[in-house]
Amino acid sequence: MAIQIDGKALAKRVKEQVREEAAALSRKPGLAVILVGEDPASKVYVRGKESDCAECGIVSVSHRLAADTSQEELLSLIEALNRDAAVDGILCQLPLPKPLNEQLVIHSILPDKDVDCFHPFNVGKLTVGEAGFLPCTPAGVMEMLRAYDISVAGKRCVVLGRSNIVGKPMATLLTQADGTVTVCHSRTPDLKAITAQADILVSAVGRAALVGADMVKDGAVVIDVAMNRDGEGKLCGDVDFAAVEPKASYITPVPGGVGPMTRAMLMRNILTAAKDHQGLL
Ligand code: GUN
Repeated sequence: MAIQIDGKALAKRVKEQVREEAAALSRKPGLAVILVGEDPASKVYVRGKESDCAECGIVSVSHRLAADTSQEELLSLIEALNRDAAVDGILCQLPLPKPLNEQLVIHSILPDKDVDCFHPFNVGKLTVGEAGFLPCTPAGVMEMLRAYDISVAGKRCVVLGRSNIVGKPMATLLTQADGTVTVCHSRTPDLKAITAQADILVSAVGRAALVGADMVKDGAVVIDVAMNRDGEGKLCGDVDFAAVEPKASYITPVPGGVGPMTRAMLMRNILTAAKDHQGLL
C-alpha cells in the first residue's frame, strides 16, 4: 500500500503562506490573466487561478478575448500589461486558438512578469540554477517530494514526456536535486525497461493508463502530472492508479495531486514578482 501524496492539503498550506506574505506588502500583488477563445478546459483552469488569487489576497484582472482575436491585438494587450505597474504577473492561458503564435506571446511577456516561467530568459536562468521564478508544475512536484521527506539525491529518476512546460524543466529540477535523470518520450524504445528502474517516476504524457504495474519498480515513488479523461469521461492521469498503487511507496492521485500544487506554485511566483517589483528581493 502506497502513501498517497495529498496535493490538496499541501497546496492549502502553500497558499496560506503566500496569503500571509502578500498581506505584509505595501501593495497587493496583481495578476493579469488572458484567456483567448472558448476552450472548455482552459476556462476551468482560469477560473481556478482566479479563485486561488482571491484566496491569497492577490488582485486578479481577467481579459477574456474572442477566439478570432488577431496576433496584433493580443500583443498590444500584453504590451499594455507590461507597462502597467499594478500588474506583477501576466499569464496567457495556453493553448491559443489557431492561428495565434504561442512562441511570440511567450517572448512578448516581460521576463520579470513571466509567472509561468515560460520565457527563454527565465528558462535559461533556471537551467544555470539562478532561477527567480520556478516552472509551476515541476516546482509543485519538488515541493511534494520535500514535504514527504522523499530525497532525490542519488536516486534514479525517470521523466515521461519532454514538453517545455513540464518534462524538460522537471528533468532540470531533479538533476539540480542530484537525481540521475532519464527523459523518455514518444520515440523511446522499450519504455518499460527504463521505467522499471525508476526510484522516482514522473509521468507527464497525457495518455490514460499509459503506466501500468509492469512498468513500475517495487517501492517506487510515482508522480502523475497528467490530466486525462478515461473511457467514461472521468478525470484520470497517465498512471493506472488501481494497478500501480499497491507496488508504489508513494503515489499522487488524480485529481487532488499535482494539479492543486501547480496552482499554488503560481501563487508563489506572483508573490515573488510583487516582491521584486517592490524592491524586496
Ligand atoms: N495551459 C496548461 N497549463 C498551463 C500553464 O501552466 N500556464 C499557462 N499559461 N497555460 C497553460
